[in-house]
Formats: sequence, structure tokens, C-alpha cells
Amino acid sequence: MENFPIINLEKLNGEERKTTMEQIKDACENWGFFELVNHSIPHEFLDTVEKMTKDHYRKCMEQRFKELVASKGLEAVQAEVNDMDWESTFFLRHLPVSNISEIPDLDDEYRKVMREFAKQLEKLAEELLDLLCENLGLEKGYLKKAFYGSKGPTFGTKVSNYPPCPKPDLIKGLRAHTDAGGIILLFQDDKVSGLQLLKDGHWIDVPPMRHSIVINLGDQLEVITNGKYKSVLHRVIAQTDGTRMSIASFYNPGSDAVIYPAPTLVEKEAEEKNQVYPKFVFEDYMKLYAGLKFQAKEPRFEAMKAVETTVTLGPIATA
Ligand SMILES: [Fe+2]
Repeated sequence: MENFPIINLEKLNGEERKTTMEQIKDACENWGFFELVNHSIPHEFLDTVEKMTKDHYRKCMEQRFKELVASKGLEAVQAEVNDMDWESTFFLRHLPVSNISEIPDLDDEYRKVMREFAKQLEKLAEELLDLLCENLGLEKGYLKKAFYGSKGPTFGTKVSNYPPCPKPDLIKGLRAHTDAGGIILLFQDDKVSGLQLLKDGHWIDVPPMRHSIVINLGDQLEVITNGKYKSVLHRVIAQTDGTRMSIASFYNPGSDAVIYPAPTLVEKEAEEKNQVYPKFVFEDYMKLYAGLKFQAKEPRFEAMKAVETTVTLGPIATA
């Protein structure tokens, strides 16, 4: 079994640039996931984010989660639970407009740290998009522009904790899904594992590693690359011991951005075989995704294609 790809970003500045770019290309083509080290976000800062997130969970979220579990009788379930996840979460939106000041129970210092965290991750996301452009032979800035819409990208952070679970075989921390958006940057617990991705029919652990940032690609990058890169199914297995922290930041297209395969990446053969991914407004994709997150992505792409076909054929049919 090949090893999970770990990319040392510092090596982009030296003699090993070419090898590193190839590692990124291989990870994008064959894994949809990779783990970044030496990514330029200071380790002490990540320690602060981690400490404040864990403190906040203990102070404001843990008791609430326990009450929810008790009210639903989840400790004693006997059959697989398919309609909920064993997770405690809240969501911060950064772009186009921040909602951090409106989120209840956060103290001012934590708000400030998460604003700064978002700024650093936004920069890293845009740098990564340009590395992807380089590997794909797209002009610099192509992906950023493709995501821009009229108000810039949508960027947000899902802060999650996965508490210890007595029945991890019956309730998933988070059920299997692919991410809908663009590029995802995950700062995860360095001790408690649980994140897995599906590769060649096997679930593989994404190894916890101190101060690393895990990257994965969402459905929109699969569409823009016309399938050269793929969003990959992943899930969280709850653990019987320990609470796993997961801070996932989603750098996504703006709601009115029009998403479609980059023309230079659509091969003639794909065109002839009608294997071209659809063109749609990102917001429409998200509306569809909301109800189908835990189902396969292919029917979502097909549904968008059907809408596109209707729109395209409309005038012909009425002529
Ligand atoms: Fe995800």
C-alpha cells in the first residue's frame, strides 16, 4: 500500500521544487487528499487555535452534546444510525461577509484568533490553487478567478469535536461524503485519529500529525478539471476514547460563480463520448447538495447536466 502523501511546502523554494510539484500532482490525481508540513502558518499560532477551540468545547459545547445524546437515547442504540452524526459543531463564515461577531458563546480573544486563522488559511488556499493551476497547465490565478463570482469566494470554517462514542460501529462521527466546494484545509487533532478516506475500495486513515494541515479537493475542482482531479469520499469514525478536534475550512466559489470545465482540460475524446462535466451556478449545486450530501456525487453531476441540457435545448424545442 502506498503511503499517504505528505508534502513539505518549504521544498518549493529550493532545488526540490520540481519533485514537490510532482508529489502534489500525484496526490491530486490519485488521492484527492494530502497533508502539508512547513506550510508557513506558525506552530505557536496553531497551538493557540487548538487550545482555545478545546477550551471552548469543554466550556460551552460538551454538556450540550451530552444532553443531546441522552435525549435521543444514543448511548444504547442497537441498530446502525443513518440519519445523524456523532459530532458537536459550529460554523464560522469569513467571506464574503464574516459572521464571527454574531456567533454566541465565543469570547473576544477566541473570535480574534479565529479571524486571524481564517486570514492565514485564505492565503494558503489561494497559494495552493495556484500550485494546482501550474500542475494543470492553467494560467496563474485561473482557479481563483473561476471561484470569484461577483463578490469573491465563499470561505468558512466548521469547528467540530468528536466526543468519545460507546457505539462507533453503529454511529459514525461523520457519515461518508465528498465535499461540495473547492479546496478544504483541515487542522485536526494531533493525537485522536478518526478521519478516513476511500482509496481503491479501502478506507485509509488520514494520520494525525502535529502542526500539519490536511488538504482535500471538493466537487467543484473535479468539475473544473473535468475529472482529472477527483473529490474523494471520506468519513469520521468516532473513537471510544478521547475527543477529536477537527477545524475544517472551506474555500469555495462565490454563490453566483459559474462553474464549468476549463476548456483546455476537456479532451476531444471526452467531448466525443459526452463525458464533459456540467456547467452551473455554484449556488444551484449547493441547493442540490444540501439534501444529498451523504449520497454519491455522480447523480449530483448528472442532475446538474440535466438542468443544463434543458436550458440549452429550450430555444431549439420551441423553435
Ligand atoms: Fe468533508
